[in-house]
Amino acid sequence: MIKCIILSGSPCSIHEPGSPSCSSEIIDLDIPILGICYGAQLIAYTKGGVVGEGMKSEFGRAELLFKDSELFDGLTERGSESGMMNVWMSHGDVIEQFDGADIIGHTMNTPVAAFRIANNYGVQFHPEVHHTDKGEKILWNFLYKICGCERNWAIESFITDKIEDIKSEVGDDGSVICGLSGGIDSSTTALLVNKAIGDRLTCIFVDNGLLREGEKETVINTFENNFNMKLVFVDAKERFLNGLRGVTDAEAKRMVIGEQFINVFEEEANKLGNVDFLAQGTIYPDRIESAGASSQKSSRIKSHHNVGGLPEKLGLKLVEPIADLYKDEVREVAKELDMPLPILNQHPFPGPGLAARVIGEVTEDKLRICREASEIVEAELKNSGWYDKVWQAFAIVGDDVATGVLGDARSLGRIVTIRVVESKEAMTADFVKLPYDVLENMSKRITNEVKGVTWVTYAISSKPPATIEPC
Ligand code: XMP
Repeated sequence: MIKCIILSGSPCSIHEPGSPSCSSEIIDLDIPILGICYGAQLIAYTKGGVVGEGMKSEFGRAELLFKDSELFDGLTERGSESGMMNVWMSHGDVIEQFDGADIIGHTMNTPVAAFRIANNYGVQFHPEVHHTDKGEKILWNFLYKICGCERNWAIESFITDKIEDIKSEVGDDGSVICGLSGGIDSSTTALLVNKAIGDRLTCIFVDNGLLREGEKETVINTFENNFNMKLVFVDAKERFLNGLRGVTDAEAKRMVIGEQFINVFEEEANKLGNVDFLAQGTIYPDRIESAGASSQKSSRIKSHHNVGGLPEKLGLKLVEPIADLYKDEVREVAKELDMPLPILNQHPFPGPGLAARVIGEVTEDKLRICREASEIVEAELKNSGWYDKVWQAFAIVGDDVATGVLGDARSLGRIVTIRVVESKEAMTADFVKLPYDVLENMSKRITNEVKGVTWVTYAISSKPPATIEPC
């Protein structure tokens, strides 16, 4: 029995031909409906509200002034009838007017930021992201208090169900290769597949020339010391870097990398023989951000190499046991599987590696700068005790150069940008307000130790509107 419906956000405008829609009979169903962002606009528009372009888009943090109500139950100060909280916005259109609805929240730029009308609730902000204060409580109120749902999803049952699913997907004699990067997603995937089919799994670790300093040795050592699985190492530096030569567009680079990975996996599968399946550590945000590849109704933010970067014809069937999980949920699964701490506690690193952090063409020199500067950023965070408090931290380099003065002489060098963000599931993020002395140490070391750098800047954009990685 369906207990409720949540209508999610969309990059479309309600006024665009072909934008996602649903019949008013659905919106009038006798069950609670919560519209989020575009979903809220859809409810308002269907019920006669005015949705306009808005004077200003809102991206990132906004202050919501709200009224005590079922949706915001427990969120006002004791006895108070109204409250204020930080919410995360990402919209252009706004609900300008909604006669007949109880307006339970507004912000400076959005007159109708939360409403209730009969069984329908709507919020213009995103309660599902970590950066909305008390967003989880709002969803909790909707699901458990308003709709009477029960909480019955548990990590333990997820693991046992997934192992059974993999067994039946792969069958009794199928073999699987797993693209292993050493990160938490692919390592968790490998552990789940290994539990399901034992030594019919072979992990493939590829050096694509886009790895961090010392990463190859660390991954191989960690794997060999902690896992009882077969590992094949492939040195594919040359083919990846050759493929990337002259490619400047971020999406085009991702396509080259996705294609090269698949070529390597298919070749290794052929060498092993009798391999039908490729296991990948794809997680839910990879699918959302790559979505335009399969859906007209979502926007492709960037093609994650393991989703949007896949060729149309793939000779292997995909096994993606964690494809419905967010990163924080993957961490919980990994913990339950006794994942070694160095893997569990490391920062996420993107599949396209340093190519996601080198703006424009990927050259050996820019890779060197990115690698050396990133190592300094990580080391200084560790020295100052910040590493474990942040989500990701790295250096970015592009083609911009700026004037410097070295030993009284003019010199032209690259600009390196430091990016340090906090996040919970990578769908939203904010820059970390690092102490100036930590930033100063990073900057000094980068200009002194990394040849060819004259300027260091700090990226202070949140996601949205920026993304975490620049490419
Ligand atoms: P963005 O840059 O889109 O990244 O805000 C969100 C998170 O995903 C990581 N990322 C990737 N991971 N393949 C991956 O496995 C990819 O192509 C990819 N691109 C970005 C990124 O590091 C951040 O944690």
